[in-house]
Amino acid sequence: MSCSGFTVPARVKADLRDGMYLWRTSFFGVVLVAVSACVPDPTPIDSAANAAQKDRSAAELFQAHCATCHEDQNSKAPSFAAMQQKSTASVIFSLSNGKMRTQAQSLSITQQIDIATYISGGKAPYEPSVSDYCKDKRIVLDRMFSGKRGVDHDNTAAVGPDLSNLDSENIGSLSLKWAFELPGSSAARSQTVISGDSLFVAATSGEIFALDRKTACIKWHYHSEVPVRTSLTMHTLANKPNNKSSNVQPNTMLLFGDSDNFVNALNALTGTLLWRKDVGVQEHSILTGAVVADRYTVETTQTTELQAADFLIVPVSSYEMVLAADDGHECCKAHGAVHRLNAENGDIEWTAHMTAEATPRKKNKLGTQLWGPSGAPVWSTPTIDKDRGLVYIGTGQNASGPATETSDAIIALDLSNGKTQWQFQAMAGDVYNAACSQFPKGYSCPARPGPDFDFGASVIVTQNSEQRPLLIAGQKSGDIFALDPDNQGEVLWRTRIGAGSALGGIHWGMAVANGTLFAAVNDPPFQGYLGKPGLYAVNIDNGELLWNFELDRGCETTMRAYFERDRVYPECSFYFAMSAAVSIANDVVFAPALDGKVRAFDINRGKLLWQFDSNREFTTVSGSTAHGGSMDNVAVQFAGDMVYMQSGYSSFGLLPGNVLLGFEVTP
Ligand code: HEC
Repeated sequence: MSCSGFTVPARVKADLRDGMYLWRTSFFGVVLVAVSACVPDPTPIDSAANAAQKDRSAAELFQAHCATCHEDQNSKAPSFAAMQQKSTASVIFSLSNGKMRTQAQSLSITQQIDIATYISGGKAPYEPSVSDYCKDKRIVLDRMFSGKRGVDHDNTAAVGPDLSNLDSENIGSLSLKWAFELPGSSAARSQTVISGDSLFVAATSGEIFALDRKTACIKWHYHSEVPVRTSLTMHTLANKPNNKSSNVQPNTMLLFGDSDNFVNALNALTGTLLWRKDVGVQEHSILTGAVVADRYTVETTQTTELQAADFLIVPVSSYEMVLAADDGHECCKAHGAVHRLNAENGDIEWTAHMTAEATPRKKNKLGTQLWGPSGAPVWSTPTIDKDRGLVYIGTGQNASGPATETSDAIIALDLSNGKTQWQFQAMAGDVYNAACSQFPKGYSCPARPGPDFDFGASVIVTQNSEQRPLLIAGQKSGDIFALDPDNQGEVLWRTRIGAGSALGGIHWGMAVANGTLFAAVNDPPFQGYLGKPGLYAVNIDNGELLWNFELDRGCETTMRAYFERDRVYPECSFYFAMSAAVSIANDVVFAPALDGKVRAFDINRGKLLWQFDSNREFTTVSGSTAHGGSMDNVAVQFAGDMVYMQSGYSSFGLLPGNVLLGFEVTP
């Protein structure tokens, strides 16, 4: 007998949506069944065994080693169906080197291959066919449409007539032009970059493409061995006259974070890897928020030439609060962090830690050593404020006590050294982990758990009608805050538009145009409170509500769907509210929803102008069939006559999918 050394609760009731700590709770509670991961030593399977035998063994291995989590409705682990979309190679990678290496460590390589083959049905790694490629593969990056999440430096997520021809007058002509399959993927969590004649998109599976943005033919394809976790960001390095030896030519990079906590930099013109850098700070670090980039101009002493120093800001989250559901896990040591990296080679220039190093605290009732402080993960995309020399970040809750002043906070870090200039903590004492969402509570849940009110949406830098600068932040509590950047983040106004919960309130991103803030509220229906899901328009001068669109499911769900929330009920999704980032083209705001519907509203009056249901099949440009599903995380994007959106999200009972859609408007 051997033992993999840990015990997994059959009901790990935690959901980690992209490093976002969103726990499921149920009115009815669930019995905890401890299942030991101790299993007899695996004996390599005889290669002569027939296929059926092998398949049966693989199915048994799956039951013994994987099913506890992957068939658990409340686990954040992808379902069998979602994993079936992966290639054999990528599942093997997860088991041997990737995220599942701990869970698979008692399996022989042969067994890992058998399980991977069983899950994926032996699919070969993806390779585009020759006919999927453009005839002309040149890439011209002469105009930036959207180089990052939040579109511009201020994260307004709004584009004007210079970048988009879509408006409330012509939106009626918006029609689907093409669909592109994101191979091996079941969730769209990486916002695209659109520049010049190209669109850059990453499937979570690790397949990254440069596409012709009008026709979706492929200009280059890059395969990352490690799944992609974050949105893409584009950055062009300054030409460095005395650094001609740099291998970074011609200087435009695509940046993303992967599942192994590496930041990757690709040459945007060729799709070749320039560098990779490990930025994890602890064992349970995870990357979720996008990398952001900027440049300092510095005068060198040797020459009179101005030199530019390009840097990246990288947010680091943690998923350890999920592991706290296991009473035997020594919760918790991991905390959030932010790095500044040298954009040319990925060297870390400074790191800001969101809590001190954890030290041993008391033991839980089972005698497991608990640690703290921990948590305050940074899963939002940072906002660089070059005028003030600051970077603003939002944090989540503490995973274990003692609580820190850095949880559920907006923090302004000095760009030059990472030191905190000021911080605004919206909620103190919010200590919460997956043990708290169990019934009865797991032993590692603190006596008085907090509500899990993270900041996930990027801070927006804007001005009110008197040109007074404002920072706007939105929280999972459903609160919106306007902070004064010139007065240590003092609260100018605060308004609450949602009921808020661990899964509620404001998630992935807000938008500002015309003195109005637009925020989507998720507030799912199972929390036992009166949720207020929908889209809200708020006056940025005072936080007053201008209009809102109340959302309902619009179809009959069954009690069965309630109890089996991870089962996909495509005909009437249990989840239907708005979690994805919202975005604006001219006078139209787009809000994608978890049931796959995307709606567009007139920003001034809140009139519903256009609606599309992406929860269906699409025939793609390559002739394959792709699926839409839930729309979460990423925003709708715009460039000229085109509008782009991704559909599919496979965490915790959302509708999986693998499609990028290109729409065209006739102006
Ligand atoms: C203790 C619970 C648990 C067990 C046991 C477990 N998994 Fe997972 N698995 C997860 C979770 C949670 C995730 C999602 C991780 C994430 O995205 O952060 C996951 C993700 C995966 C993924 C996607 C990996 C990736 O890199 O995105 C694959 C493939 C996978 N598991 C396969 C397996 C297989 C095969 C087994 C059995 C050998 C197994 N898992 C056992 C919890 C588990």
